[in-house]
Amino acid sequence: MLDLKRQYRALRQELLDAVGRVIDSQQFILGEEVVEFERAAAGQLGVKHALGCSSGTDALWLALAGCQIGPGATVITTPFSFFASVSAILRAGAKAALADIDPVTFNLSLAAVEDVLDNERGAGAKAILPVHLYGQCGHFHAFLRLGRERGLAIVEDAAQAWGAEWDGSKAGGLGDAAAFSFYPTKNLSAAGDAGMVSTNSDAIAERVKMLRQHGMRRRYYHDELGWNARMDGFQGAVLQVKLKYVGEWTEARRAVAVRYEALFRKAGLAESGTYPERGVVLPREVKGARHVWHQYVIRATRRDGLREILTARKIGSEVFYPIPLHLQEALKGLGYKEGDFPEAERAAREVLALPIFPELREDEQETVVAAVAEFYS
Ligand SMILES: Cc1ncc(COP(=O)(O)O)c(C=O)c1O
Repeated sequence: MLDLKRQYRALRQELLDAVGRVIDSQQFILGEEVVEFERAAAGQLGVKHALGCSSGTDALWLALAGCQIGPGATVITTPFSFFASVSAILRAGAKAALADIDPVTFNLSLAAVEDVLDNERGAGAKAILPVHLYGQCGHFHAFLRLGRERGLAIVEDAAQAWGAEWDGSKAGGLGDAAAFSFYPTKNLSAAGDAGMVSTNSDAIAERVKMLRQHGMRRRYYHDELGWNARMDGFQGAVLQVKLKYVGEWTEARRAVAVRYEALFRKAGLAESGTYPERGVVLPREVKGARHVWHQYVIRATRRDGLREILTARKIGSEVFYPIPLHLQEALKGLGYKEGDFPEAERAAREVLALPIFPELREDEQETVVAAVAEFYS
């Protein structure tokens, strides 16, 4: 699925020097390296504030709490995402209401969100949390318009979407606040757990800074219940190095996606509908979006059988995500049942992520497509 060692080989000395700087400085938590990373990251995203923190999960919580989302508030999000998109809402003390996805982008459906807002599940709605799943933003201006009309904050889960754009604007600066993850498999990755909140609001940035340090504005004076959600100096240093290259890596990922499309078409495997009938439906970059291809996710007929063949050929693949969030044991309390989100449930049965990373070679992609062709022949 992902060979991190190829990236590491090219950057080894630079990364070791960066880590060495932190040891020399003995500033292990926040400190100069994190401040420098935050400055460079804000510049790259074109946002006023970037605040490093301990993980994408904590970044989601900080972004929500930074927007004053807490007890009594409802946040609308998708059932088809990583668990943290919902757990962070609950961790902030708010209620989570779910809305089904658009079957093409796998992102929140605007119409479904509007339906929730118009029924009792949407009572007390204070925010929408769209997830840029697999690295693509979905129809974002429509969400911003809806947010403005209904007085709702828009908090982006941009964990998978470093460098993604909607209509020329970068993810991270589209809504009121955004959360990024730098988990090692992400397009921009740390050497451990790390995350970041971005925002153009001075007030939200100030709250996030306070909350990530146990609610302190002044040392040992705790104004609110915050948490320890700080970024390590090592991660700030490593991320500064990788930030210089992530633009090239995104271009390389985009080239990999173009090659997959050409190879699948040449093999006669790509179907034109939204759902597969006999073979596979390829992922699409929708008009307005700049996809950063965190994942290359096909819809596949007899998905689990296909996955077995790939595994037998030693080809990595993954299902993001096999169980939609409304059917997770830990989220039973949300009160949903099977059948409530048919698009998310169908996606969970059909999606299959194929290997994608900047250094993936064409011959390796040919091997992947040949194995898929063999399964459907
Ligand atoms: C969509 C989404 N949201 C949130 C997270 C949480 O990020 P982290 O693993 O850094 O806590 C992830 C990463 O796994 C993710 O993919």
